[in-house]
Amino acid sequence: MSELYAVIGDPIGHSLSPAMHQFWYKNNHMACHYHAFKVSADDLADAVKGLKAIGIKGFNVTIPHKINIMPLLDHIDEEAKMLGAVNTVVNRGGELYGYNTDGLGFLLSLEKEVPEILKQNPKVLIIGAGGAARAVGLTLAKHAELKQLDISNRTIDKAKRLSSECEPLTKTRALSLEEAKGRLPDYDLIINGTSLGMAPHTDQTPIAIMPSERRQVFVDLIYRPLKTAWLRQAEAEGHTVLNGLPMLIYQGALAFNHWFGFMPDTKGMQMFLERKLED
Ligand SMILES: NC(=O)c1ccc[n+]([C@@H]2O[C@H](COP(=O)([O-])OP(=O)(O)OC[C@H]3O[C@@H](n4cnc5c(N)ncnc54)[C@H](OP(=O)(O)O)[C@@H]3O)[C@@H](O)[C@H]2O)c1
Repeated sequence: MSELYAVIGDPIGHSLSPAMHQFWYKNNHMACHYHAFKVSADDLADAVKGLKAIGIKGFNVTIPHKINIMPLLDHIDEEAKMLGAVNTVVNRGGELYGYNTDGLGFLLSLEKEVPEILKQNPKVLIIGAGGAARAVGLTLAKHAELKQLDISNRTIDKAKRLSSECEPLTKTRALSLEEAKGRLPDYDLIINGTSLGMAPHTDQTPIAIMPSERRQVFVDLIYRPLKTAWLRQAEAEGHTVLNGLPMLIYQGALAFNHWFGFMPDTKGMQMFLERKLED
C-alpha cells in the first residue's frame, strides 16, 4: 500500500505540487502518492481532522489556509511562528507538526542560482507586501546580512507593517512605489513579490526599470510565465535575472526533506517543470 501525501488549498487546480512530488517519488522508487485536494475555508477544520483520521503522513498547505491552519496543529516550528504561516505539515504518531519552507526555499534559490549576491551584503528592495513578499522579506531579514531592506507596495500601510516587523532584524524602510522607482538604481537585489505580470496579465510590470550603470539582480517570484515582461526588460538592460521557479522547487524540496529526511534532486526538477510550463 502506498503512503499518502497531499496539498490542500482553494483554488488548487493549477498547483504544480502533485507533478513535482510524484516525479520525486518515481525517481526515488518510493511507494508514495501525492494528491491535490480542494478544501474551502469553511471545511478546513474537518479536512484536517479527516486527513489525520486516514493517517496521512504529511501535507502541504496553500492559499487560503496558510494562516488558519495554525490553531489546528499540535506543534509549530520557530520559522513558521516567525512568518505566522504554515505550508508544510508532518504527521508524527498522530501529532501534526507545522513548518514553513517558503522563505527558506527562496533563500536557498538565491544561494544556489545567484550565489554571489548575498555574500556582498546587498541593498534589497522588495515590491509587494502580500504573503509571498512577507515570507521572503522576513526570511532575508533574519537569515541574510543586508545593508538595507526596503519594502514598497501599492497599499503603503501594508509595506509599513512588514517593514516594522523586519525592523528588529535589519535596517529597513517602507517606500511608496513612486519613491522606490526613483531609488531603483541604488539596489543590488530587487524582488517582485506582487502578482503583476502573472498570466494571463503578462504585459503588466511592477515597477519601471531605469537604465543604470550598475549590474543588478532582478528576481520575480512569478513562474507563470517563466520569464515575465519585467524580467525581460531587466535582462535587456544587462542585469542578472531569476524567476520564481527555483523558489517553488526549493520550498517543495524542503517539504520533502521534512517528510523523508533527505533532499531530492532539484536540477532534474527544474528541467521537468520548465518543460511543463513551456507547453
Ligand atoms: N515562486 C513561488 O514559489 C511563489 C510562492 C508564492 C507566491 N508566488 C507569487 O508571488 C506573487 C504574490 O503572491 P502572494 O501570495 O503574496 O499574493 P497576495 O498575498 O495576494 O499579494 C499580492 C501582492 O501584489 C500586489 N498587487 C496586486 N495587484 C496589484 C496591482 N494591480 N498594482 C500593484 N500591486 C498589486 C498587492 O498589493 P496590495 O497590498 O496593494 O493589494 C500585494 O502586494 C504571485 O504572483 C504568486 O504567484 C510565488
